[in-house]
Amino acid sequence: MEYFFYYIEPNVGLELITKCEAMGRAAAKGGTRSKVYFVDDYVVIKANLSIKDTRPVSKVRDKVPFDEVVKRLNMLKNGGVNVVPILGYAYDPDNIYDIYGKLAYASGYIIEPKAMGKELWNEKDFDDKKYVLERIRMFAQAPQEQYNKFVKDFIAIVDAGIFIDPVEENFFYDEINGFSFIDLNTIADKGQTELNMQSLQSFYRKIAHEKFIEKKDLTDEEREAVIQNNNQIFEKYQKALSTVNIL
Ligand SMILES: Nc1ncnc2c1ncn2[C@@H]1O[C@H](COP(=O)(O)OP(=O)(O)O)[C@@H](O)[C@H]1O
Ligand SMILES: [Mg+2]
Repeated sequence: MEYFFYYIEPNVGLELITKCEAMGRAAAKGGTRSKVYFVDDYVVIKANLSIKDTRPVSKVRDKVPFDEVVKRLNMLKNGGVNVVPILGYAYDPDNIYDIYGKLAYASGYIIEPKAMGKELWNEKDFDDKKYVLERIRMFAQAPQEQYNKFVKDFIAIVDAGIFIDPVEENFFYDEINGFSFIDLNTIADKGQTELNMQSLQSFYRKIAHEKFIEKKDLTDEEREAVIQNNNQIFEKYQKALSTVNIL
């Protein structure tokens, strides 16, 4: 195993990987591209790392080594931005395979601290009416400062050249610590930067889970509460946007 444990002790990192292997497939949470293991206070993500010159890069089109992503995330974290950093990664150099002839891929591991709170939304939640109503109410009541910080952090990440994959499962919310960002492992190209700035403009729709009101069989009171809560989320979000300069 070749490892690059920048912000975690090598013996701790290796032990986490051993434990994750012992847990087996069943213990993993499936992401879209990866398997995620919760070990001790950490998260071990088993994924295909694309490597070039024996160093992982985050995506085929990237020319920036994966180490650069790790470094930038750590800088953001140290600057007070609510990103979940990558502490280190590892892969087996004897088990590398080519896909497009040029770039080699290796099955490897990424180690991160656990994000605080829960996913903003998960599709699995959407059938649970009570949960959704309660969560929308919680977002409506979240302090203005948490919205301001979300917007500020979002821009800081984009400014650092990191791509935010803006799906609900890649944001966490904790009542005390507010919003945080996970699944940050790609350097953004120009199009992705623009896409990110667009998604920032309308992200309140995702926080408010706007489609809920169309889909669900709600009582009049519930519907009224959702409308009011959504308005409140919208107002706080717009106010947060007005605290920053965006083009
Ligand atoms: N650091 C973390 N803390 C808590 N949960 C995490 C963390 N990283 C991943 N997860 C969970 O695993 C899911 C998939 O991980 P993610 O990094 O988004 O991989 P994918 O690229 O497959 O989407 C996330 O939506 C989240 O629920
Ligand atoms: Mg994800």
